[in-house]
Amino acid sequence: MDIAVLGYGVVGSGVAEVISLNEKKITDKLGGERINVKYILDLRKFPGDKNEDKIIDDFNIILNDGDVKIVAEAMGGLHPAFEFVSSCLKAGKSVVTSNKELVAEKGDILLETAKENNVNFMFEASVGGGIPVLRPIIQCLAGNDIDEVAGILNGTTNFILSKMIFDSMSFEDALKLAQEKGYAEKDPTADIEGFDACRKICILAALCFGSHVYPKTVYTEGITKITLEDVEYVRSWGGVIKLLGRAKKAGDKISAMVTPALVKNSSILSGVNGVYNAVLVRGNAVGDVAFYGQGAGKMATASAVVGDIIDCAQNIGKNKGIGWNKAADGAVIDISETETSLYVRASGCKDSSLEKAKEIFGDITVLSRDNAPEDEFAFVTPEGKEGALREKLEKLDGTELLSVIRTVNY
Ligand code: HSE
Repeated sequence: MDIAVLGYGVVGSGVAEVISLNEKKITDKLGGERINVKYILDLRKFPGDKNEDKIIDDFNIILNDGDVKIVAEAMGGLHPAFEFVSSCLKAGKSVVTSNKELVAEKGDILLETAKENNVNFMFEASVGGGIPVLRPIIQCLAGNDIDEVAGILNGTTNFILSKMIFDSMSFEDALKLAQEKGYAEKDPTADIEGFDACRKICILAALCFGSHVYPKTVYTEGITKITLEDVEYVRSWGGVIKLLGRAKKAGDKISAMVTPALVKNSSILSGVNGVYNAVLVRGNAVGDVAFYGQGAGKMATASAVVGDIIDCAQNIGKNKGIGWNKAADGAVIDISETETSLYVRASGCKDSSLEKAKEIFGDITVLSRDNAPEDEFAFVTPEGKEGALREKLEKLDGTELLSVIRTVNY
């Protein structure tokens, strides 16, 4: 069966490599039918590459070739990926993608187009890289009412935070290393500012709760303000800082956010380090389940893309019925309405400020770190609505807030 790959970057080249590496296994799974990468679309030239003869720069050749039944989109970005994917589906080709931006922004439309044309649109690689998580949610957990999903959804930021925690490496050096290893997005802003994790929690939320969730409606905060000082205070609290994507039912609405969060050492999430991701799902029948694996990287992500290609090849002429409703206005509640406790690092007169904090919040947990300046202090508040906690923080006059980070109890 002929397929085409759009984009010959980290993921696209990985897809070609996995198909070649595991050719026999894949062919056996397909009852003897071989997957043949007929075209690779890329504007760049790759002289000397083993797939050089397959590289073309005209998308229409792929679109108009009736023998190409499946297209793997690994270009990234919204345009022209959306137009290309949409045209392929309308031309009767199934499409698989690793492109989270595309699924988070246009998933509802593309799934509908796939249904109308009796083909499939699959995107396992868009969340958690190589971790099987979307298919288990769609299929294995289909008998559950899922009320919460959360996780470490970005390998680059988890790699950076792990380097800060274990090697006291600076944020900048750790980011450089992540880029060298090919984990980061082309523009790492999407990783470090949380946008990539936001797209992934939107996809998870849509699958778990049945309606599209647009990234712009989800409160998103990255890790650029996290310092080694915070890492040390949180160590004294018995935990670590992780960038988490979270979505939870809140009546007939949902709460959803991406933020750094304090996680206790006893949490399964605290042991997820380096480029690894983990996704926790809470179902009303199954209870809590966790999915863990490499969330970024060429071969891990390609593994998920190729799994989708095989699934599409096994379902030619049959739409699998994956889909969700259009986004509902106001479906995501404001972050001020969510329950949390806050880690606070501040400078000011330490003793009197901590006394004041006790008066305002009640039972605070005071934290410490080695070699802290005289005028620096840190504490964790009791739980409350975030909006109310922030109002109380404003009463802590005479101090300068240096860091405020939410805590979670997964
Ligand atoms: N830049 C992404 C990450 C790649 O670091 O997780 C995988 O989506």
